[in-house]
Amino acid sequence: ASYNEQWRPKLHYTPQRNWMNDPNGMVYLNGEYHLFYQYNPQGIKWGHMSWGHAVSRDLIHWEELPIAIPEAPDIAIFSGSVVYDRNNTSGFGTTANPPLVALFTGWNKSNNNQSQYAAYSLDQGRTWTRYGTAPVLDIGSTESRDPKVFWHAATSKWIMVFARATDHKVAIYGSTNLKNWTYLSDFGPLGAGTAPGQLWEVPDLVQLPIDGNTANQKWALLLSINGGTLWGGSGMQYFLGNFNGVTFTPDPLPAVNEPGGVLYQDFEGSTYGSWTVTGNAFGAGPAQGTLPDQQVVTGYRGSRLVNTFLNGDSTTGTLTSPDFVIGKPYISFLIGGGNHPGETAFNLIVDGKVVRSATGQNEELLRWNAFDVTALQGKTARLQIVDTHTGQWGHINIDQIVFSDNAFTENDNRVLWADFGRDFYAASTFDNHPTGDKVWIGWMSNWQYAEKVPTYPWRSAMTLPRKLTLKTTPDGIRLHQEPVAALTTQHAASLKFTNLPLSQMRQNLTAAGVRGKTLEVLLEVDTTGPGSIGLKMHTSAFEETVLQYNPITQKLSLDHQKSGDSSFDPGLSEVHVATLRNTGTLKLRVVLDTSSIEVFAQDGKLVFTDLLLSSPSSDGFELYSSSGDPLVKNLEVYELKTIWN
Ligand code: FRU
Repeated sequence: ASYNEQWRPKLHYTPQRNWMNDPNGMVYLNGEYHLFYQYNPQGIKWGHMSWGHAVSRDLIHWEELPIAIPEAPDIAIFSGSVVYDRNNTSGFGTTANPPLVALFTGWNKSNNNQSQYAAYSLDQGRTWTRYGTAPVLDIGSTESRDPKVFWHAATSKWIMVFARATDHKVAIYGSTNLKNWTYLSDFGPLGAGTAPGQLWEVPDLVQLPIDGNTANQKWALLLSINGGTLWGGSGMQYFLGNFNGVTFTPDPLPAVNEPGGVLYQDFEGSTYGSWTVTGNAFGAGPAQGTLPDQQVVTGYRGSRLVNTFLNGDSTTGTLTSPDFVIGKPYISFLIGGGNHPGETAFNLIVDGKVVRSATGQNEELLRWNAFDVTALQGKTARLQIVDTHTGQWGHINIDQIVFSDNAFTENDNRVLWADFGRDFYAASTFDNHPTGDKVWIGWMSNWQYAEKVPTYPWRSAMTLPRKLTLKTTPDGIRLHQEPVAALTTQHAASLKFTNLPLSQMRQNLTAAGVRGKTLEVLLEVDTTGPGSIGLKMHTSAFEETVLQYNPITQKLSLDHQKSGDSSFDPGLSEVHVATLRNTGTLKLRVVLDTSSIEVFAQDGKLVFTDLLLSSPSSDGFELYSSSGDPLVKNLEVYELKTIWN
């Protein structure tokens, strides 16, 4: 294959042709990293599930190999994992030539049963022999899948985790020979993806050192969910906790509304939009501060209204949205009401009457509320914010308004998301990694539209392999992800400047004529000033993808409204927003490919992975700030060479 088609990734694995979904069975052996994956040998949509296969010596360059495990007459081969059985506990190999053992889900097409099967390879994963035709574990379910197996040294046994998808549970089993499995425990439901109709899939359970200290480790349960995600469709959350060889016990969930943790769709960024203002609730009264950035309201889908300093006394009045048709079962909102509890009301009005109402709390007590409007779907309505504060220092905080299929609650707010983009799913880690690092790869798409993504003759790419670590942050211990180090071998033309004002950096970029579809960008910039800072990428006269940090609202946003082709799903043109604590310095690492963007902020604490289907000619690149001239401590831009020749 030429790997030169429009939108063909230059740095991310894709099969030459046909459909791919989950990465499966990642394992290292004798100098090779194996990537198996859900593959349809016969078409460009999901079907005929088989394990495709590719190998790499550095996790960056891949060679596609023949199908490893084909669909069988009795079963389709669903997701699963591979372990290196170095002591030949299974007896599938010999002590001299220990086997690779695959555990995967077989989907029985005649009765829909999903159970766990084994296969082994004695020739570096090239050919596979199924272990009989019967499953090694069958719990009699049509929704039990995606076994991930690892060796648990402390209790000298193999552990298997798999998803009981519709029960929102992860089942944990143990074995000494990979053939006979004993029930140990269940985990869940907890966190997101637990409503009826939502699925838990592809779990992984890994132990990770905290702050690089291997004497101080913690377990992370990594979990894919389809439904109940930030932006719709499929995505990934994780849980931290302890695993004792039998039970995974989660740590207490993070604090409510934690900056840097949990994030919701909000729509900040424009001004009053079409809301109507009466009285002097917003924008009147003597100004008490100089932070105009704090006064932000957007259209009726959501807003952040933080006029804490700007608006002063007697903030009495109303703010009313334009009419809209209620299309979702819930309207959820994060509301705070200055230091004057009860003086802010948030109302839903239908036919001139308030049909739902909530009052604001103290600013420090931002609270998620949700109106259940299931019975009102299809009605024309408007939202109204009423402020009745008459003393000094009125302020209101309507942080976010979300129209969704879920009632967002404090509990939802406590989800740890593995990725704040739309296109990260089914990731799991390598077995037998030579340095013991935990490295994972995810599927860079979303079940909401995966089969419609307009690429040909292949469909779907994998993410870059990313190293997982845990780091202590002001919010607690959090998962961090960074592309594997070998990515730097793809660096071509480069540019690096340090400690210059942003305006000077802009000039340097222009002088150097920096542009390109495949770039890696490192940026470290001072965020102690009020102005927003950002990157515009894949730009042209008609397209741009904007990554922006607002140091006041502490939001990092990735704006896809003008990114390119979104005709197959409106989700492709959304703005993805995440809260990121302002520590005075923003560190960004961005990897751009022909049809994707991966953003790693603050050393990988916060990640966005998104498809980005820009036009071939949109290859401009720009750095900007909305006001002021912040100090850019470091700026590096690398052109990235293709991995395909
Ligand atoms: C996740 C998933 C798995 C299943 C596989 C089938 O994307 O639904 O649960 O094993 O895909 O292709």
